[in-house]
Amino acid sequence: MKQLHFGVDYYPEHWERERWKVDAELMQKMGIQMVRMAEFSWHKLQPREDVFEFEWLDEVISLLGSYGIYTILGTPTAAPPAWMVHKNPQILPVDREGRTRGFGGRHHDCQSNPVYREYIRKLVTKMAQHYGENPWVVGWQVDNELGNSHQELCTCASCTQHFQRWLKQKYKEADILNKAWGTAFWSQEYNDFAEVCAPRITVTGENPSAMLDWKRFCSDLIVDFTREQTKILREYTKNQFITHNYMGFADKVDYYKLGELLDIVSHDQYPGGFYLEETPHEKNHVLAATLDVVRSYKNQPFWIMEQQSGITGWEVMGRAPAPGQLSAWALQAIAHGADAIVFFRWRTCAMGTEQYWHGILPHSGNPGRRYQELKDFVSAMNPVMERLQGSMPKPQVGIVFSFEQAYAFQIQPHHKDLSYTGQVQKYYRALYQQNIPVDFVPEQGDFGKYKLLVAPLQYLMSPNLEDKYMDYVRRGGHLVLTMRTGVKDVHNLCMTDQELPGRLSELAGIEVLDYDCLRDTKVEVLFEGQKMEAFIWSDLMRLAPQTKTLAAYASEFYAGEPCITEHPYGDGICYYVGTEPGERLLEALMKQICRKASVGQVCSSDTQVECVVRQKEGERFLFAINHSNQPKSFQAPDGYSLLQGSQAGKLEAYQVQIFYKAAR
Ligand code: GAL
Ligand code: ZN
Repeated sequence: MKQLHFGVDYYPEHWERERWKVDAELMQKMGIQMVRMAEFSWHKLQPREDVFEFEWLDEVISLLGSYGIYTILGTPTAAPPAWMVHKNPQILPVDREGRTRGFGGRHHDCQSNPVYREYIRKLVTKMAQHYGENPWVVGWQVDNELGNSHQELCTCASCTQHFQRWLKQKYKEADILNKAWGTAFWSQEYNDFAEVCAPRITVTGENPSAMLDWKRFCSDLIVDFTREQTKILREYTKNQFITHNYMGFADKVDYYKLGELLDIVSHDQYPGGFYLEETPHEKNHVLAATLDVVRSYKNQPFWIMEQQSGITGWEVMGRAPAPGQLSAWALQAIAHGADAIVFFRWRTCAMGTEQYWHGILPHSGNPGRRYQELKDFVSAMNPVMERLQGSMPKPQVGIVFSFEQAYAFQIQPHHKDLSYTGQVQKYYRALYQQNIPVDFVPEQGDFGKYKLLVAPLQYLMSPNLEDKYMDYVRRGGHLVLTMRTGVKDVHNLCMTDQELPGRLSELAGIEVLDYDCLRDTKVEVLFEGQKMEAFIWSDLMRLAPQTKTLAAYASEFYAGEPCITEHPYGDGICYYVGTEPGERLLEALMKQICRKASVGQVCSSDTQVECVVRQKEGERFLFAINHSNQPKSFQAPDGYSLLQGSQAGKLEAYQVQIFYKAAR
């Protein structure tokens, strides 16, 4: 495939034909090499049941082609047209209160509905046959942000049936399901799979085991929905890639599993936020973590399919990106492993919900400040992108990130401020602050390539995963385990045969005999001779003889008892953190652990200067990103020289400098 690096999301159907040529010219001048189109234009492509109209799209594709601009086509299944919904109202989704959601937004669809699936097969087949060998079409995006707009997904009759089938395949017999779900509680036993419903809201409470399977089913349904399309596309297309635009840590679908169907994972990055609550600089670690998790889903370079290119907003708007900020954000994505950036959107829309989600061009269509900035950015970066080909960040630290653990904590968060993803991001932050690069790893992943593995909240546990952790440490790995580990089996039933964390007690050298949920308070902790704070939870533990106390509680009825521990096991060390450390404590702790695990930082820098390395055989590229609106001094470490421009030991506001160094 041709190497493409910069593109825009383009909606020619929103504008008069006469304008298309002007757009193509402006794109070409800006250095744009590709567009993504059509992911919401079902009605334009199939205005009536038996009428398919591809001429307009043919015309745009070939017009853009005459300017050397390639196309990525979206399958428009995120926006089923009104005629279809009118004729087949059963394709509308039904929420957990049993209310049918109406036409008028997007994703007003039930993904299991057989009638809807049939329409999709027909349209996608026609599109694939028509464009499958078009030399200007380089790839496909299936649907758009699957899982988005889906709330708790659909609980209609079709979904209920599919859920029952899924359960039957998993458990074979109703009694096996009864055992797995603990239905003896409150007389919830089923005699037959036909008695199981998709979970409507109940009078009181929910069965956590049933809810976990429901969330797994919903994720599998989205994967299956995607597979139906990728199968057709693979059958009729030649030399065209398939992707889907992810949303970072969004969790309706297991993105690792979805990634198996795709050639490239792509992602939509909006650093300015939607309804921005925090000031941007406090969120930089979340932006970085989001990019790292997206790279980790397939463990390969990724694409940005929608990169912020102006003020964001629907009803309420975000701040205007300052000069340099759009480029800095795009460069942050590249630093973390993006091989291509597609800006959302080309021109600010005059109609519909997204009138205030600003594009590169303003409503008027006249190139302005954003066009100029991104034009300069594209022309500076095009040659750099060629050099970066084949490079990736190569972290020594992995953070375990699992969709199933996220589901289990959504069902029972324990504490109003506890979220699984939030905890994962807190550990990430402590490493990010020190410029220590991180991969995210699925529980099925390869732990062995990391010197340090951080596994927050390993709540659902299986014998297989226990073995993996024990094996990892035995062979010399450093592992961080935390509170609420080994609490449940994979069916979301509490483990009862040992004190927590179950079999992992042997590895961690501790047993949790009691605990305290810190509802509206915090606890003091003594670490390295200093008083610090911790939140949410306190595990009260008994230590094995070899276990060392790294930190002890300094308040509450358990003052003086161990809070964070270290235990040698085989050739490695297992750390156990029995609380949620506050920011200061977590940073100090991770610093100490990284030192013990011989994990190095990229380099030291001001807290608002992020440093990231991409590397390949022979070369290392260091990105220094100034996220602040003030100049910051910055010196690259020895051996690095500046890739472009001249070094002044300083980064201007929102400036990014790229350095390189020959390396083995
Ligand atoms: C994304 C979505 C786009 C557009 C954008 C701005 O989530 O994929 O289609 O809606 O947000 O709201
Ligand atoms: Zn449904």
